[in-house]
Amino acid sequence: MRRKITVVGAGNVGATLAQRLAEKELADVVLLDIPQTEGMPAGKALDILQAGSVYGYDTKLTGATDYAAAEGSDIVVITAGVPRKPGMSRDDLLSTNAKIVKAVSEQVARSSPNAVVIVVSNPLDAMAYVALRTTRFPEERVLGMAGVLDSARMAVFVAQALDVSVEDVRPMVLGGHGDTMVPLPRYTTVAGVPVTELLSKEKIDAIVQRTRDGGAEIVKLLKTGSAYYAPSASVVAMVESILKDKKRILPCAAYLNGEYGVRGVFVGVPVKLGARGREEVLQLNLTVEERVALQKSVDAVRELVEAMQRLGVAG
Ligand code: APR
Repeated sequence: MRRKITVVGAGNVGATLAQRLAEKELADVVLLDIPQTEGMPAGKALDILQAGSVYGYDTKLTGATDYAAAEGSDIVVITAGVPRKPGMSRDDLLSTNAKIVKAVSEQVARSSPNAVVIVVSNPLDAMAYVALRTTRFPEERVLGMAGVLDSARMAVFVAQALDVSVEDVRPMVLGGHGDTMVPLPRYTTVAGVPVTELLSKEKIDAIVQRTRDGGAEIVKLLKTGSAYYAPSASVVAMVESILKDKKRILPCAAYLNGEYGVRGVFVGVPVKLGARGREEVLQLNLTVEERVALQKSVDAVRELVEAMQRLGVAG
């Protein structure tokens, strides 16, 4: 039987993701957006479908504005949301996107009760929380995409600093998807060698900072939106590990129940991803300094969740 992935939000991340999934023939793809977008998702889906004739794939793509098309999806990726606009406070953005993710999650729970949900909408860790609370899915089946992206950025900066193939860099970033994320040089290796043995402290510190600012660097360059090529590629890695039950270890936002001493919030940790979604959270040994940095990141995520609870939009 053919597998089905629904991508909610047919904007930059959603449409690019649909294209990447189609090219890999991982599953049939439904691209879904709000009714106000009218034919837009259908138009993009048809365009990607027609590229299959040239590019050589048989993925079926459908664009839709109602959830009937999404029925029975194996995976649902939520990219719906609005970017921060001038004059909008962080709380305004939090509240607007939480309401969107809540509305989407209600529909997802109804139309695809057995799906694994991957949240991409920002602020990521808070939106994953809303999706979990709203769908009431088991914790294993709701994940956030951030760690793969943050790690990908770190890997590129390491590869550039050492002039080596990015394929030989194995990066590791923990924590929330924001300024407080915790890139871990000790666990970042190049052909098995920790990067701490290959680069000076100054160079590593600069890489860590640029990784933390990775999203902002692109927003500043683009001016009209945020990154979508690397974010969509990162979702594909997660989808592939789940659909093929590869059990890859990828950093993802996962709801923690005491792992790393954290309870009740989503935060980026290394996760074994298989057919059941999150199959295991890997516990790394952290130094005191790394623990403090992770705690700071967890506190930042917790503040967002508390703000959503105050605003009554936590799901
Ligand atoms: N249901 C479905 N789609 C929605 C909803 C909703 N309730 N609300 C908004 N959308 C759609 C918009 O119509 C738009 O097509 O979500 C899409 C968002 O697309 P873009 O504005 O292009 O944003 P994008 O760059 O794709 O980013 C999406 O991912 O990386 C994060 O921070 C980013 O939160 C943002 C999300």
